[in-house]
Formats: sequence, C-alpha cells, structure tokens
Amino acid sequence: MPETIDLLLLGAGQLITCRGPRKGPLRGKSLSDPGCIEDGAIAVTGGRISAIGTRDEVTAALRGAGAARTIDAGGRVVMPGWVDPHTHAVFAGYRADEYEARIRGDNYLEIEKRGGGIKRSVREVREISEEKLFEISRRRLLRMLEQGVTTIEIKTGYGLDLDSEMKMLRVIARLGRETPLDVVATFMGAHQVPPGFAGAGEYVDLIVKEMIPAVAESGLARFIDVFCEKGVFDVAQTRRILEAGKEYGFGLKLHADEIYSIGGTALAVEMGAVSVDHLTMITPADIASLAGSGTVGVLLPSTSFGLASRRFAPARDLVGSGAAVALSTDFNPGSAPSSSMPLAVSIACSQMGLVPAEAVNAATYNAACALGLEKETGSLETGKKADIVVYDVADYREIPSRAGLNHAAIVVKEGRVVWEAADLRDRSEVGL
Ligand code: NIG
Ligand code: FE
Repeated sequence: MPETIDLLLLGAGQLITCRGPRKGPLRGKSLSDPGCIEDGAIAVTGGRISAIGTRDEVTAALRGAGAARTIDAGGRVVMPGWVDPHTHAVFAGYRADEYEARIRGDNYLEIEKRGGGIKRSVREVREISEEKLFEISRRRLLRMLEQGVTTIEIKTGYGLDLDSEMKMLRVIARLGRETPLDVVATFMGAHQVPPGFAGAGEYVDLIVKEMIPAVAESGLARFIDVFCEKGVFDVAQTRRILEAGKEYGFGLKLHADEIYSIGGTALAVEMGAVSVDHLTMITPADIASLAGSGTVGVLLPSTSFGLASRRFAPARDLVGSGAAVALSTDFNPGSAPSSSMPLAVSIACSQMGLVPAEAVNAATYNAACALGLEKETGSLETGKKADIVVYDVADYREIPSRAGLNHAAIVVKEGRVVWEAADLRDRSEVGL
C-alpha cells in the first residue's frame, strides 16, 4: 500500500460487490449472491481497487496511509457501475411515432416493411454530419453515466454502406476518448438489408468481401454482430458473416430469437460466440445447449417493454438450466428507446422473475462477461477498475423496486468522481 491512496470510500451500508468466480460468468444459485459487505469500504490507487472489505479491514490494510480524497457514503448502497453490453446508442432521431403505432396494434416487422424502423434510422444517419452525430450521442452517454453506467457496448448498423458504417465507428471511438465511459465497438453492418440490393445474399457478399476487411483494417471494432431473424438474415447468411468475422479476428455476437426462433442460438453456441442476445422466443432445446456452453445469453427486457409486448425472455428457465444470463438496455431509437439500466433491471425483476440480486449481477459482472471484460470491470474486487456508484438508497433492492427515479448519487470511473447528484444532503431520505 503506498503512503497516500487516491480515494477512500467509507460508510457503505451495503457494499454490493457482485464478485464473480475466478473465471467466467455467475450461473445458477451463485447468481443470487450479491456479495454484500456491511459497513463496507474501498481504497483506490491509480484508478484501481487496492483494498476492499469492511471499514475495519480496509483501515487495517491501509496501515496508516492517508487518502487524497475521502467519500463517506453515509450508510448508502455502493455497487459496481453498470455494464451495458448491447446498445445501438449512436443514431440520429428517436422514432416515437412508431411507439404509438405499436401500442395501437402495428407490429415491428410491418413497420419496417413500410420503410420505418431500422431503415428510417439508416436514412437519417447517412444524412447527418459526423460532428452532429457525435455530439448528440455524447449527450446521450452522459445521461447514462449519471444513472451509473460506466461501460457500454455500441453497435453500428444504421449506416449499412461502408462510408456510413465507418462514420459510426469513428463516432463510437471518439465517444470512448471524449466521455468518461469505457466504450466497446461492435460492427453490425448486418442489421438490415439496405435498399438497392436484389436480396440479402447480394448484401452479404458486400459485407463479407468489402466491409469486414475494411473494418478489420481500421481497428475500430472488437466484435461483429448479425440480426439473425425471419425476413432479415437467415442462419446460412448469418453463418457466412460470422465465419468471415472470425477469420478477421472479431469476437462474435448475435441477435437471435427476438421475434421468431430460426436457429440463431444454436449457431452462436456452435461458433463460440461471446454472447447471444434477445432470446425472447428461445426453445427448450436451445436453452439446454446454451447452458452447456460458454456463451452468455444477454436478455433485453426493455425491448419487450418498448415493443409494448407482454412476452419476455424465459429468464427463470435459463437461470434454472445453468445458462449464463446478462442484462442490457438494447438502447436504440425504435424498439428500446430507454437508455436506463436501472429500468432494465427493474423490468427483469417484475416481468422476468429475476430476484434483485440476480438482476444486479446480470447487469454488472455477467454483463462484463458478455464483453470479455470481467477481469477489468463489472465487480468490486482488488485489482479491478474502480468503477463505483453510490446510490441514495439504504437497501439495493430499492433500485429495482423504486423504479422511475435515478437513485445514483455519486459515479466514480477509474477512481475519479465523474458525476454527482446536486443537493444530495437536502434531498436524501437515507439516515434521517
Ligand atoms: O436489437 N433487432 C434489431 N435491432 C434492434 C432494433 C433497432 C431499431 O429498432 O432501430 C434491436 O431491437
Ligand atoms: Fe439490438
């Protein structure tokens, strides 16, 4: 321990560590252990956690070292920052009229056929300047940061030609440099078939022969993703794209079983994808194969919610079978316009039947697993990034149960306070 540590956080009524196993995601019963330490404390050195435990344990570990800054959480809840492992956060405008249309009974794929949906967002992203696309996306990310998100994955897929996809990738890279969040980029040229192609096959040729090599060359994406869905990309086309992506060194992700079950999950498992996402319509056989794999199932409760659907992914069956599950917002202008991780956690609890500890672990440690980042972030453990959030609640279960409010009070990214709620002392109920 150095003579002075950078930050000492004391007085966590519940320090929810979300600590995981040495390797890989939390599964089954272990998912419901929040790793709670009462009267917890954390010491931070060089942006990383250098000691964590009860106040007494951390004080002893400091052996008299002073702290450049001390934060007293005052009995509040302290948790790791949310990791949002599946977003489409870079886009031009929201499509709120489609939200109303769905409530009135239109369905997502029909809206898409009429030229709405993803295709409409593609037209808008192609038109908007790179500078403006960056600036609106930057503001969105800051709204997520203030709800406690410290790591985010962002997909392309509203460009669908090489120039516009590269524009999105440059914006995503710049968001990583110019906001406090850690940003992970995924190339999703296979989000839809853009106008001007005879069929999906012709566009898949372009993706495989031109786009994947160019994106790989740019070094701007870590993962590749495909919307494997009836009427979008079938399993054979998806396989071609993922195989090409794998050859160029991308990690694999997949949108599967969102509206129809057409075999995407089996393909993701077979190809060793890091995650397979949505799973609303997953079959029992696919649940079993996912459970026997290292692939993380990323569940997106805010999408069912945003689609005005009553149908949610079978989270209880997945957890019960031993499959690894994570949670994410799917933040996008159409099906999931809420960027709130706490809301996703809340819907996962009340509508999917996850207990709060399961949902919290799924939105932190397991979400980091879905990005291959579990050694760096997603839980509060010695050596990991000090991505820490203080919530103005006395019990972590208030975060999902008292939905619709932002309970974040202080957000710390790699040891630095990057956001603080105003007037906390005057507004707080905790400790009165
Ligand atoms: O994950 N399913 C495909 N893509 C997004 C929706 C994007 C949009 O509607 O703009 C999703 O739900
Ligand atoms: Fe998505």
